[in-house]
Amino acid sequence: MIEKEEEKPLKKYEFLEDLPGIGPATAQKLRELGFHTIESLAMATARELEPAGIGEKKATSIISAARSSMGVSFIRADELLKMRQNVLRLTTGSKALDKLLDGGLETQTITEFYGEYGSGKSQLCHQLCVNVQLPPERGGLNGAALYIDTENTFRTERIVQMARHLGLDPEHVVKNIIYAEAYTSDHQMFLLENADEVIKENNVKLIIIDSLTSHFRSEYIGREMLASRQQKLNKHMHRLIRLARAFNTVAVVTNQVMAKPDAFFGDAVHPIGGHIVAHTSHTRIYLRKASRGRVRIARLVSSPYLPEGEEIFKITENGIEDISEDEKPRRS
Ligand code: GTP
Ligand code: MG
Repeated sequence: MIEKEEEKPLKKYEFLEDLPGIGPATAQKLRELGFHTIESLAMATARELEPAGIGEKKATSIISAARSSMGVSFIRADELLKMRQNVLRLTTGSKALDKLLDGGLETQTITEFYGEYGSGKSQLCHQLCVNVQLPPERGGLNGAALYIDTENTFRTERIVQMARHLGLDPEHVVKNIIYAEAYTSDHQMFLLENADEVIKENNVKLIIIDSLTSHFRSEYIGREMLASRQQKLNKHMHRLIRLARAFNTVAVVTNQVMAKPDAFFGDAVHPIGGHIVAHTSHTRIYLRKASRGRVRIARLVSSPYLPEGEEIFKITENGIEDISEDEKPRRS
């Protein structure tokens, strides 16, 4: 049998110290900056390495060595295409919702769920943590989840319920969710900046930040703090994109909404975070309650290539599910 020849990286590096030009002291500085793995270095920009005392020229060569070690280079368009071809999809648990997303949540990009209190954002996050552990033939990614919780709403009991419903061993499922509570926005950023090793070691295929904006919103108050809030949010989101690309993971953030006092037409609410969050979230889904208790409406508000649309699902003891025919709201 003739095997297809695989493209091999020039040289495979395992540790930061293995890269040409990195000694123990530089490696230590890089780790302090949050670069613990070759993968995260491959996604860095030269400017990001500056605080480790690495000049632009050296930084560029370190980054390209890291990229070549991974067998990918993100410079050429054909390489970008290759990367795109590695995109995987994760099921939400609802066929209708998956259809809205053309098959599920994508790896390498950020999906944002926004909506009012009780609209189901955290419930969806819980469900995704279980689903990601399923094999690909059941819509999963055979991977673990990393859950950054800012509001202390993560519930292991809920995971157990959902896992049982899918016929998975709850004990095993719970062990594959790496949980971190973020106490402040700075702590939240710190957690993500230092997540690369955890992601690699545990085969994390889903990163969740629930909620992205709550700490930022309560800590940065008033117009004079808006610019620094946006700057931090921007940095945080970019870090998330880098991790999602480096490790081919799904990235999910949740976001609250604010009333739009001047809205005469259309939706009377809009998500927090302004242009920064809007532009760094690749796919945005607006969740709201339907008139019936457990039914929810998901609206795809923006996507790089999918059309806008709406689908409904429900939240039950089992988790996120499709609704039955008789539960479908009558449209007037
Ligand atoms: P905020 O974080 O407050 O903005 O809201 P959220 O959008 O995260 O809401 P969340 O996902 O927590 O949804 C809460 C809703 O999910 C509840 O109002 C219930 O309708 C439903 N829910 C939560 N837990 C359970 C459960 O164990 N069983 C059932 N049947 N429904 C649940
Ligand atoms: Mg929530």
